[in-house]
Amino acid sequence: MNQDYLRNVNKPFEENIVRDLQKQAKAGKIPIISEEGIHFLIQMIQIHKAKKVLEIGTAIGYSSILMALFTNVKVTSIERNETLYKQAMTNVKTAKVEDLVELVLADANDVVINDLDYDIVFIDAAKSSYIRFFEKFSKNLKKGGIIISDNLLFRGMVAHPEKIESKNRRQLVKKINLYNEYIVNHPNFDSYIYAIGDGLSISIKK
Ligand SMILES: C[S@@+](CC[C@H](N)C(=O)[O-])C[C@H]1O[C@@H](n2cnc3c(N)ncnc32)[C@H](O)[C@@H]1O
Repeated sequence: MNQDYLRNVNKPFEENIVRDLQKQAKAGKIPIISEEGIHFLIQMIQIHKAKKVLEIGTAIGYSSILMALFTNVKVTSIERNETLYKQAMTNVKTAKVEDLVELVLADANDVVINDLDYDIVFIDAAKSSYIRFFEKFSKNLKKGGIIISDNLLFRGMVAHPEKIESKNRRQLVKKINLYNEYIVNHPNFDSYIYAIGDGLSISIKK
């Protein structure tokens, strides 16, 4: 399998903080971006020479902390779950990236973010709201900036909805498919969806 080969040939993160955060997520059954996905994000920040990232969906702070730690980018990250927000706060302090990572406890549907100069918006929250998040937070993005969205293949279910038994899950997958079609047809963005991690897209603001 290509995946197994790549896992062996690529170097894993060696930093204790990364391993600790991965363990924390696993123990709490909290979904975090795949290792392939976070490498992609980090390299995208480096190539794009991004200075500011807006993240929708913090969870325990794994992706925010890794982006900050490995690229020195400034991250603003929004989380609506107070318990996770507090856990992320503690993790940010432990990782010593308080100067780079700003956590916001709020529902992304309600919060107002004033800065209009983000280089990257990373959408990784409730999948059913992705179109709303895209429309709302694209206003905070610079021209030429990038929106990156995660979980667009949703563990293979988006490509094979006929195999899904749960009605709720089928509806969610339908919404992800609508989002995928929305971004690739958006007149103001150049978008492409990649089979990286759980399905990541790049949308460049024209
Ligand atoms: C997949 S997790 C984020 C993982 C994180 N980006 C990482 O890779 O480390 C999604 C998070 O989004 C949060 N979330 C979902 N809908 C939200 C909303 N409307 N506003 C703010 N946070 C939301 C959830 O509580 C959850 O913690």
